[in-house]
Amino acid sequence: MTDTTWSKVDDFINERFVGDDAALDEALRASAAAGLPEINVAPNQGKLLMLLARAIEARKILEIGTLGGYSTIWLGRALPTDGMVISLEANADYAEVARSNLARAGLADKVEIRVGRAIETLPTLAGEAPFDLIFIDADKPTTPDYFQWAVKLSRPGSLILVDNVVREGAVIDAESNDRNVLGIRCFYDLAAADPRVSATALQTVGGKGHDGIAILLVISAP
Ligand code: SAH
Ligand code: DHB
Ligand code: MG
Repeated sequence: MTDTTWSKVDDFINERFVGDDAALDEALRASAAAGLPEINVAPNQGKLLMLLARAIEARKILEIGTLGGYSTIWLGRALPTDGMVISLEANADYAEVARSNLARAGLADKVEIRVGRAIETLPTLAGEAPFDLIFIDADKPTTPDYFQWAVKLSRPGSLILVDNVVREGAVIDAESNDRNVLGIRCFYDLAAADPRVSATALQTVGGKGHDGIAILLVISAP
């Protein structure tokens, strides 16, 4: 299997299960035009986020790492009319792009983007917890702290999803000095040893290369 095959299979899946979608397509176009990096989740991964959120009937969702709001649109679409997404983003310019993408997707009143370093915003969210689903997708070195906050801000039955947990396989390098790899490896160790969650992770290949997503079910109260 080659990267080209992986990408073509992603296209095959996305043509059938996602299709053209004006709001999502325009969000990617506007994000690229504004110079944002193209590190949003793939369409089939975005739809997975939506389906998982729907399956657990999530009403309150927390996202850490908004970028241009591509994954945020998928999460927002999973919500019932009284649901809400709070999405945390450090870069004020990215947040502005995301707000306009979300408005175009008809989600302006269901999504709130809070600008600032997530590690500083998270302690302010206690009054809005518990969240039914938390998607961790920001700076990788801080993933262990985001995981701890996610458990704190959840309830038994909440889902915690963590993006980019494979990084082209770099995650298995125990000698790595890469801060991203160290952060992700530390997250695995914490989650594996934490009796409050039951965790798994899946490798993904496709248009976004070889990576992976962790899926954790919170099974006992923090
Ligand atoms: N979830 C998005 C992609 C997020 S990319 C999607 O799939 O569409 C990671 C984002 O995290 C970037 O926008 C980056 O600016 C943001 N980020 C990086 N460090 C951060 C921090 N300390 N606090 C909050 N956001 C941060
Ligand atoms: C990077 C970040 C992401 O969230 C992602 O999905 C892919 C790459 C990065 O920082 O390189
Ligand atoms: Mg990511």
